[in-house]
Amino acid sequence: MAVQRTFSIIKPDAVAKNVIGEITTRFEKAGLRVVASKMVQLSAREAGGFYAEHKERPFFNDLVNFMTSGPVIVQVLEGEDAIAKNRELMGATNPKEAAAGTIRADFAQSIDENAVHGSDSEEAAAREIAFFFASTELCDRIR
Ligand code: TYD
Ligand code: MG
Repeated sequence: MAVQRTFSIIKPDAVAKNVIGEITTRFEKAGLRVVASKMVQLSAREAGGFYAEHKERPFFNDLVNFMTSGPVIVQVLEGEDAIAKNRELMGATNPKEAAAGTIRADFAQSIDENAVHGSDSEEAAAREIAFFFASTELCDRIR
């Protein structure tokens, strides 16, 4: 399996709960390395642009309001099969359906406040990384 990069957000609910470190530790324990990281307060324009694929969905406005309700941690994670590995660590979108021991099962309240975002494909990862980071902000950790 090839080394990949994926894009992660620790969402406002998890930042408010003070579990940035606990969530990042799960990435590290699974063999993923942080190659870029920063805390940002999203504007409605940024959150709406990031989630543009969901623009027509009934939950879109609530999603933008939630994602702008407090600071988030945006990260790029690097490792073998990073995209699928991160999705597995995250668990299902609805924490009530998320497997035991996943980030969403352990830290999320509800489907609309679900602790983390992770890219779902190579195309999404490339687009999402470029949305938040300049190439000069990404550091190789695996060679
Ligand atoms: P989606 O891309 O389907 O889920 P995931 O984050 O697992 O890739 O949806 C994006 C976000 O939109 C999701 O994390 C939370 C929010 N959302 C809702 O608030 N209600 C919903 O019914 C769905 C499907 C998503
Ligand atoms: Mg998604």
